[in-house]
Amino acid sequence: MSVEWPRNGYTFRADGVPALDLADFANPARHAQEQASLFRPGHGLLYLGHDLLLPGKGHRRADGDERLLLTRDDDGRVRAVSNLCTHTLRPMARDDEFIDRSCITCPYHQWSYRRDGSLIGGRDISFNREERASLGLASFELLSWRGFHFAVDPARRREFDAEFARLEDDFAARGLSDCLDFDGWTVLATEDTPYASDWKTFMEVFGDCYHVPPYHDGLASFSDCDTLDWTFGEHFHVQFLELHEERGGRSGLYAQWVQGLEQYHARREEPMSSFAVAWAGIYPNLMIELYHGLRVISVVLPTGNGTHVNRAHYCVPDDMETVVPGLPAIMKAAFDETGVEDAILVESRQVGIDAARSLGLEVKPYHVNLTGLAPEAGTAHFYSWYRRELARSPH
Ligand code: FES
Ligand SMILES: [Fe+2]
Repeated sequence: MSVEWPRNGYTFRADGVPALDLADFANPARHAQEQASLFRPGHGLLYLGHDLLLPGKGHRRADGDERLLLTRDDDGRVRAVSNLCTHTLRPMARDDEFIDRSCITCPYHQWSYRRDGSLIGGRDISFNREERASLGLASFELLSWRGFHFAVDPARRREFDAEFARLEDDFAARGLSDCLDFDGWTVLATEDTPYASDWKTFMEVFGDCYHVPPYHDGLASFSDCDTLDWTFGEHFHVQFLELHEERGGRSGLYAQWVQGLEQYHARREEPMSSFAVAWAGIYPNLMIELYHGLRVISVVLPTGNGTHVNRAHYCVPDDMETVVPGLPAIMKAAFDETGVEDAILVESRQVGIDAARSLGLEVKPYHVNLTGLAPEAGTAHFYSWYRRELARSPH
């Protein structure tokens, strides 16, 4: 099996990519550099939210960056503006509730703004025309794709448009374009999980299919890692897997998931495909996990030096609970069973990095497995992206 994935305009070669150094993790200077570049809206591409979280006209705090608001205007247009009131710079939205109103009102002294960020006025204060014009909320360029909204560097818009075209091609080539369409899907639950590790340990694990067969009994009997099929763009990777012939048999929850899917498709009088999952990672912060029956949009939020949160939105078809009562909860429980296992995997990487540093070991920081189907090619790909994008950052 080759370790090179050539395509029009971008080829990924997985061997020869150096792993990140131990000093790249939980390093205060590096954390500050990442915040000033990879996680600064407008630097490259940064996921901010999905249409599912903006169910109408109004606004809410951005999913991927609490410093911003996402707004939807009467004409449907979505914008990103700063969540900082221009009176005193206090954040206005302090939670993720969707506010179904035509204006954004600051709770402290009631300055209010239109959904394009322009200032309407403030309580018991008058402005001249110039003041009013200068006191709008800062706005950020947005790139929208399939209902996903990203802050984008305006100078790189074309590059990212090409990326999403590649991603579309990858799904279309496998007959899976519908998987990217969330019409008819609904958010079942949203959960934040804190991790005592650098956010990059989460992305390493997301690009690692190697651990699935030995480590996740349930998941490994649901999705067949022998069918692993990688695709890569400059800023994303996807793993496509087929259903395992054990049909979830090594976990009660995964077995019920597959049985529930069989009932769901039978009751809808439609064939059931052998598709198990597509795991798509769009760097730096978005993961789209498209399981057969369950979709999870998840975002990595660095919360400090060596800590992060993973926020997961669990989505199911609108009709699933009616067609097979209880199936959405079973799928979520199965996903969470694997998530608990993954949390140990993610945090143990940071424990190991810290221990190796404290012992003064001069070790290879990560030995990526590219044998056979190259089950850790996604980790190597994340490393290559990280080094390339960080090199563009102001030092
Ligand atoms: S801080 Fe927003 S109105 Fe004063
Ligand atoms: Fe895992």
